[in-house]
Amino acid sequence: MSHFTYLDEFLDSHSILSELDQVNQARLNRLEIFDTIDSTNAYLLQQVRRQPVSGWVCFAETQVQGRGRLGREWYSPRSGNLYCSMTWCVEQQQEVANLSLAVAVIILRTLKKYGVTQEVGVKWPNDLLFSGKKLAGILLERSGETIVIGIGINILLPDKSLSSLIQQAIGLAEITGHPVQRNRLAGLLVNELLTQLPIYAKEGLQPYLHEWRQHDELLGKMIHVSLPDRQYTGKMCGISDAGELLLEDEKGIMHALCSGEATLSKGFL
Ligand code: BTN
Repeated sequence: MSHFTYLDEFLDSHSILSELDQVNQARLNRLEIFDTIDSTNAYLLQQVRRQPVSGWVCFAETQVQGRGRLGREWYSPRSGNLYCSMTWCVEQQQEVANLSLAVAVIILRTLKKYGVTQEVGVKWPNDLLFSGKKLAGILLERSGETIVIGIGINILLPDKSLSSLIQQAIGLAEITGHPVQRNRLAGLLVNELLTQLPIYAKEGLQPYLHEWRQHDELLGKMIHVSLPDRQYTGKMCGISDAGELLLEDEKGIMHALCSGEATLSKGFL
């Protein structure tokens, strides 16, 4: 049972902005904090259709239609989690399939800067896990040349049995054993995104590969990957330099998969 069952710090733009470097204050286009919203991703997708800009950030205390990957719901109670989205414009033809892997490393670095010393892992393509439970998820959605990067970080979960049923989830407060300074964490996250996204735009996944591989939770395990039209079972052999999942099937054939949902083939992750 978590000791932290109350929300003692509301999101506040001044506190979040105070964590930004000067260069990133200039890169930030707008920072909005909502109490209640349908989905921070849906909101920014709507806005960028009219006004495609980079560095528009929004947070909400609760989402009534939080969106997860693969059409799932993202359970978004008003309990002190972080629900964040940021816009980022890319070149028209730029392929960003592996951006979510870079964002996973950006979150790992944010947690480290915040002071989290516990070993957090990544699960391809873009989950952050602790002890096999989901700590954070990433949802990228695109409108023309603008990507909306949606990040949900579990901090305080209201009802452990309900949340673990829905998302096999764990909150940061439970991991660290301390109440979490959400504004500081939110500010560090925005700062890291604003620092790293221009680097990703120039150099792609390369600067993030080493850290991703160091934290790969599935490496060497037997997994199952399902795509809409095919299923694969085999050993997870890491990721390619392009961010594809490398899976060796029972015939010894290596497959490089660029999308899909990976689960441990024995048991559920
Ligand atoms: C997943 O793991 O399925 C991705 C979850 C992404 C959730 C975040 S919370 C902020 C942003 N707004 C949304 O509606 N979804 C993303």
